[in-house]
Amino acid sequence: MIERLLPSDFAVVCGDPRRMSVGLFAQEERIVEHAVAKRQREFAKGRECARRALEAFGIVGFPLLAGPQRDPLWPESVVGSITHTDTFCAAAVASKRAYRGVGIDVEPDEPLSDELTDSICHPDELVTLGPQFASGMVTRLIFSAKEAFYKCQYPLTRAFLDFKDMRTKLHSDGTFHTRVVSRAPSNVGSAQGRWLRSEGLVATAVWLRQ
Ligand SMILES: CC(C)(COP(=O)(O)OP(=O)(O)OC[C@H]1O[C@@H](n2cnc3c(N)ncnc32)[C@H](O)[C@@H]1OP(=O)(O)O)[C@@H](O)C(=O)NCCC(=O)NCCS
Repeated sequence: MIERLLPSDFAVVCGDPRRMSVGLFAQEERIVEHAVAKRQREFAKGRECARRALEAFGIVGFPLLAGPQRDPLWPESVVGSITHTDTFCAAAVASKRAYRGVGIDVEPDEPLSDELTDSICHPDELVTLGPQFASGMVTRLIFSAKEAFYKCQYPLTRAFLDFKDMRTKLHSDGTFHTRVVSRAPSNVGSAQGRWLRSEGLVATAVWLRQ
């Protein structure tokens, strides 16, 4: 589903974290050595997807380490992003010659609670997308869109953003626009993205061209 969201010059690899992954590099293993089994499985499948996506750019044998905020430390020549749920995992990679950044996110297609909605959404964001969308679904999409935007901007800005620091406008044609409404980071104030719902999941992607 992620490859339907991104331009065709992205390499996108998806996987199922419930299935056995190829082995991690020793340096990658150390990142999750004290984590619970579920986290280890999801991390390993994410790294496997990333490894296969990097191969599309001729990059092999590259341990994908993480920065202090969990941001993957991609090879210099590419941009990339990883997402996972219990049942689905994906990595997207593109050349830095064409893109400054990318963020992808997948969530279960389930409404957010009222409490979460209040902490994530501004009332202006709660639009009607069509009869097939209960209002709770809109909030789940806004949540996902903001996470994708966050992952796209973070490697460029190192800025921590809270949900309420961003405002997302969803459109019924499968696009959205997210902008930073507080203390805007120096070089990423807003970005366009795309969303979709499929097979019990919602997915979002944000990318920035050079
Ligand atoms: C990145 C974040 C937004 C989403 O993480 P999540 O809920 O675990 O969701 P996902 O499974 O879709 O994505 C996790 C992946 O995102 C990537 N990621 C994590 N932190 C990142 C960051 N700062 N920048 C870019 N990518 C990041 C990692 O690849 C991670 O998987 P890995 O640890 O196995 O490598 C969250 O973990 C986070 O860092 N939050 C802090 C900031 C925040 O909450 N802001 C609120 C609005 S987003």
